[in-house]
Amino acid sequence: MKLAVIGYPIRHSKSPYMHNIWLEALNIEGQYEAIEVSPEQLEHQVKVLKEEEYSGFNVTIPHKESIIQYLDEVDHSAEVLGAVNTVVIKNGKCTGYNTDGQGFLQSLSAVRTEVDIKQAQILLLGAGGAAKGIAGALASFGVRKISIANRTPSKAEALVKAQKVPGEGLDLQTAQERLNEFDIVINTTSSGMYPNVDAAPVDSSFMKKGALAADIIYNPLRTQFLKQAESAEADTLNGIGMFVWQGALAFEKWTLQQPDTADMINKMTALMKQE
Ligand code: ATR
Repeated sequence: MKLAVIGYPIRHSKSPYMHNIWLEALNIEGQYEAIEVSPEQLEHQVKVLKEEEYSGFNVTIPHKESIIQYLDEVDHSAEVLGAVNTVVIKNGKCTGYNTDGQGFLQSLSAVRTEVDIKQAQILLLGAGGAAKGIAGALASFGVRKISIANRTPSKAEALVKAQKVPGEGLDLQTAQERLNEFDIVINTTSSGMYPNVDAAPVDSSFMKKGALAADIIYNPLRTQFLKQAESAEADTLNGIGMFVWQGALAFEKWTLQQPDTADMINKMTALMKQE
């Protein structure tokens, strides 16, 4: 079985490491490789992957949206989102999916019960591609309300309106002032990502004790956002779980087998500690 991730640049991707361990652990003959594909090469590359009988591939920055025009079918939720991170090739046909939002929910379910999540006051920081997937997954899961705060508040408003549950769009300052109202605060912005490790979208030291701060960043493992939340005695969740689960959900689509996510979260955590 041939699998790949396509992106630009792609050399820092940890997906080959993860999927090759799973292929081997499950005795599936095959290989998962990273292929650097520029925007100009994208259409041609999809044809090549079909011709060379790949079983599927992941799609990362900057192709998650532009890939859609080259696919034969797109799953409903990925279509609504306008972004694809997983493609299955079957009988020469490419079908697009998005496992990012569901991956986040799976990661969240390791630290909060279904009831906790459904009853929580939830604040999403950011209104970009990652926020879209997570907001959609939370709404489908059945949360009552989603508050979204963004540096550009109009984008937060638009994302709130696109959800099938009620919500409110906020600016970051208002979110900061009201931080102690929320049970779960999720950072989907890139603020705090390596190399800008001292940055954070809000000062999470004002969070409620016992609330949860979840970051989708995993480099570094402990972002400034998570460190400040710890100082408020909030629980924390880093981005490793979401990364592993989005991969596991893609892997299941290609191989129809369930990889060991708990073991991979340990391995990825150890790997990122070395970086
Ligand atoms: P992704 O696909 O990773 O979500 P994106 O679509 O570019 O990436 O979205 C990035 C998000 O991070 C946006 O919400 C962005 O805010 P704007 O909409 O105002 O641009 C947010 N973001 C990026 N850098 C930030 C910073 N330094 N402080 C606060 N928010 C930031």
